[in-house]
Amino acid sequence: MSRKGSFRRVCLAYSGGLDTSVILRWLIEEYDCEVVAYCADVGQEEELDGLPDKAKATGAVDCVIRDLREEFVRDFVYPAIRGNAIYEGTYLLGTALARPLIAKHHALVARETGCDAVAHGATGKGNDQVRFELTYRALDPELGVIAPWREWELTSRPDCMAYAQKHGIPVTATVDKPYSIDRNLLHISFEGGILEDPWRAPDESMFVMTTSPEEAPDAAAEVIVGFEKGTPVSLDGESLQPAALLRRMNQIAGAHGVGRVDMVENRFVGLKSRGVYETPGGTVLQAAHRALESITLDREVMHERDRLIPRFAELIYNGFWYAPEMEFLRAAIDRSQENVTGEARVRLYKGGLQVTGRRSPNSLYDEALSSFDEAGGYDQADATGFIHLQGLRLGRRS
Ligand code: ARG
Repeated sequence: MSRKGSFRRVCLAYSGGLDTSVILRWLIEEYDCEVVAYCADVGQEEELDGLPDKAKATGAVDCVIRDLREEFVRDFVYPAIRGNAIYEGTYLLGTALARPLIAKHHALVARETGCDAVAHGATGKGNDQVRFELTYRALDPELGVIAPWREWELTSRPDCMAYAQKHGIPVTATVDKPYSIDRNLLHISFEGGILEDPWRAPDESMFVMTTSPEEAPDAAAEVIVGFEKGTPVSLDGESLQPAALLRRMNQIAGAHGVGRVDMVENRFVGLKSRGVYETPGGTVLQAAHRALESITLDREVMHERDRLIPRFAELIYNGFWYAPEMEFLRAAIDRSQENVTGEARVRLYKGGLQVTGRRSPNSLYDEALSSFDEAGGYDQADATGFIHLQGLRLGRRS
């Protein structure tokens, strides 16, 4: 079945790497369409300067680069921190949080440049295809979607290399990494290739954002994180905009080897996958946030919110950022954060982290009430009745 003529102009999420370069040309050949390249800067630290020229040399009619770093941290990373989002108890969702943002602007750029479809380079086995396509669907349901990896007959890197050679596609000779990488301001992830054996330890040379704990400074570092309504606003008393704050936190925590994780996770599509992550700044922000909550959240509010965490994380992981149930959850979470203003102090040392202090103008912690030394607050004799009534049912069991 010919694909020709299905779409007039397609907006491709493009990185300049081998895969998306091949996709660019393949779209032109197979769909007989024009291609607009789109690249989102979410802090992946790749050189974007020569990208438009490269895209055009490969056949694109236009190339749009969007700097999304500030929006990423402000509207995706920080809401996740406010909700302590953590998937399967371990993964801070670095990739999952960036995908809906990248897809949102992908759809916008597509319409702005007169495209009737979008194309992405995510494979048919991963979570990313789902996250992208659920977002297009939620925000622009009429937009056509092309996922070449699920359509074409190229199945490997050598296939792609051969295709590139045949069509004279300029590919920069990069050293072939033995795993798949995804980086942004929050994290870097590694999976696939030599990491597919879950028993095989990652090579030390793989890590990018963190110093090895063994090599980290012998002196610990301390950092004070300030929050307003659950949102990080300052480091050591200095107010910082979201992207700058996370960048600084990454440097400090990364230098001390904090934030490495090695796990096997359940992908939405139904398979297990081994992933290694570095999330230095995010790890510290989440620990500091938890610590501040410990003095500012009512017990029952905290416990209700805690019950929502696995669900919140699962929705982020599975790509439902723009879903009605997510709106509801986020509203509830943000409502819980009204009093979460203040500071927490965290100590970083050779890959580990410890909270060493927390303070807040809204603190619910009452030193007199909690003290072991003082008799004040309530009549301790009342505890006798409290325990008796709590125990009524327990003594009746036979
Ligand atoms: N397993 C992680 C996730 O699903 C990371 C995915 C990284 N994606 C990639 N294309 N390398 O969120």
